Amino acid sequence: DNLGMLSDPSAAVSLWDSDEPVSRAELLKGVAGAHGLLCLLSDKIDTEVLDAAGPNLKVISTLSVGFDHMAMDEIKKRGVRVGYTPDVLTDATAELTVALLLATARRLPEGMVEVINGGWSTWKPLWLCGYGLSGSTVGVIGLGRIGMAIARRLKPFGVKKLLYSGRTDKSYAAEVEGEYVPLDTLVSESDFVVVSCALTPDTQGLCNKHFFCKMKNTAVFINTSRGAVVNQEDLYQALSSGQIACAGLDVTTPEPLPTDHPLLTLKNCVVLPHIGSATYSTRGIMAELSANNLLAGLQGTDMPSELKF
Ligand code: NDP
Ligand code: DGY
Repeated sequence: DNLGMLSDPSAAVSLWDSDEPVSRAELLKGVAGAHGLLCLLSDKIDTEVLDAAGPNLKVISTLSVGFDHMAMDEIKKRGVRVGYTPDVLTDATAELTVALLLATARRLPEGMVEVINGGWSTWKPLWLCGYGLSGSTVGVIGLGRIGMAIARRLKPFGVKKLLYSGRTDKSYAAEVEGEYVPLDTLVSESDFVVVSCALTPDTQGLCNKHFFCKMKNTAVFINTSRGAVVNQEDLYQALSSGQIACAGLDVTTPEPLPTDHPLLTLKNCVVLPHIGSATYSTRGIMAELSANNLLAGLQGTDMPSELKF
């Protein structure tokens, strides 16, 4: 119903009608004088964009739950409200995380390549062996909405121990018998380390040389949060030296990851193009939610999902 507002002749909508990201120059030009901005996680909303928008700007609505692409201090200073898309993408992202974990640990992409290139000679006892979840210890870094949904899905695979770390202990972790432990304990005891925290100054580069050195040689590393949580040079070293068994990444720095990036030369690294929330229905619901957040911000009413910061 709110969309009727957009037929108001005094409301001008400027739309970047492409799946490709808007260029910086177009964004800076297009945002001038705008009251509201609907953006993607690939649009860096910094002082330059806020200055280009000017004092009319009342609301920014992002088609994402992550908001590390936005200069929150500057936005707050200017009294601009922010809408985002929590919850509605939790199931899709948790599902993709489980798919990536299993594909990485059980070497599915490698196996598919062998079938196609003729490397499948016969059934061999140790060929393409990987790691299973049954009886394992799983560590979740950031047991938030998505982290908890991942834990809920992994438990029925026979996970023996579920560890998690973050800034605070969570009472809801009882549902998955989650044990709150210091990060070092999680890293050294887990067979699967799953990163699902937000990217913040504290988590930037959290998974570095020191971190990978503590992991078991047989451990699987999965990241579906943000690429910058990982030091990719250190991850490359850990994977190529056998310090850890394998890694599955849905997020990288930069995105897209250049096709000549060293990580892409490794058989024990599975890289996906940031598709955590990519189901048709989830993206549809995210689009509707972000449009309604924008409209509520413009009208000065309650947003369905306002980021409180
Ligand atoms: P939540 O806010 O519910 O969870 C974020 C978690 O990060 C919290 O549990 C928080 O723990 C934790 N965290 C914050 N700081 C730290 C820290 N210093 N160390 C460890 N953990 C920390 O968000 P969601 O679960 O909804 O989303 C999480 C992230 O997933 C998003 O920010 C986004 O980057 C990413 N994402 C990726 C997608 C993809 O396509 N791959 C799709 C959707 C989201 P605490 O509560 O203890 O502070
Ligand atoms: C997010 O929402 O933050 C994801 O990265 C994309 O859905």
